[in-house]
Amino acid sequence: MSEFSLIEAHDLAVRYPDGELALYNVNFRISGPTFMAIIGPNGSGKSTLLKTALGMLKPVRGTMRVLGYDTVTEKKYIRREIRYVPQRDRIQLTVPMKVKDIVLMGRLLKKRPPRFASSKDKDLARQALRKVNMDELWNRPFMELSGGQRQRVLVARALASEGSILMLDEPLAGTDAESQSLIVEVLGEYHRENEVSVVMVTHDLNPIHTFVRNVLLLKNTLIGVGTPCDMMDLELLVKVYGPSAKVVEYAGHRYCVTHDVGVDRHD
Ligand SMILES: Nc1ncnc2c1ncn2[C@@H]1O[C@H](COP(=O)(O)OP(=O)(O)OP(=O)(O)O)[C@@H](O)[C@H]1O
Ligand SMILES: [Mg+2]
Repeated sequence: MSEFSLIEAHDLAVRYPDGELALYNVNFRISGPTFMAIIGPNGSGKSTLLKTALGMLKPVRGTMRVLGYDTVTEKKYIRREIRYVPQRDRIQLTVPMKVKDIVLMGRLLKKRPPRFASSKDKDLARQALRKVNMDELWNRPFMELSGGQRQRVLVARALASEGSILMLDEPLAGTDAESQSLIVEVLGEYHRENEVSVVMVTHDLNPIHTFVRNVLLLKNTLIGVGTPCDMMDLELLVKVYGPSAKVVEYAGHRYCVTHDVGVDRHD
């Protein structure tokens, strides 16, 4: 597949009503298909960047394009292509739903009303749940699941859906090491086999640095863009996370140690 412009920003600035600038002076262009990560500390504008890409927020300055489409004037084309997994603590259920309903929603939302689940929809939903080892929970109420289990179900919902870009806001938050590596491996495999791009927000580059090709490092503006190795650079990390940030080499791998990641606790 030939390369194309997956996501790009030109002089982008985004502000919430009555707020400070959440993002300013952001310029980058990432080619797809790719598996990319957006990293940065709390409040650095990671979720804001995803929401702008989805057309949920309008820039106050500059532009953003996804697959070449402008996020303001052409967002209906973008919505069709993106499967979005919001940050977990932002998900609220007003009606009780079972795991199967959550995963099927990934398929039904892309259909025109009236929305009924066909047997193909159900098969794809089950397959997606199987990929994240959650198919036994098909009939369980979603709200009874643990945080890590919910995260896997939400990843399954994105896998069952359609569109050439998966955008996940902190899919590894609140999950143990086993769930983290399962989620990352499932996404990596899905990206390779389906030529789907994965855009993932995360606090911790360490569990994903061997999978991702591009990294955006944010602190309300773009601090760095490059390969994971380029971003595991002491000068850049100190700029974002402060003087306690470190880069360590162990068994041929480089790891970031910041006050933002789990590794830090063993310091
Ligand atoms: N709905 C909102 N209304 C007003 N300000 C907001 C809103 N959401 C975010 N902000 C502000 O915008 C800035 C960027 O927030 P954003 O949620 O994009 O950060 P983040 O990098 O995703 O952080 P986290 O790691 O905590 O999820 C912060 O200063 C935040 O306070
Ligand atoms: Mg966020």
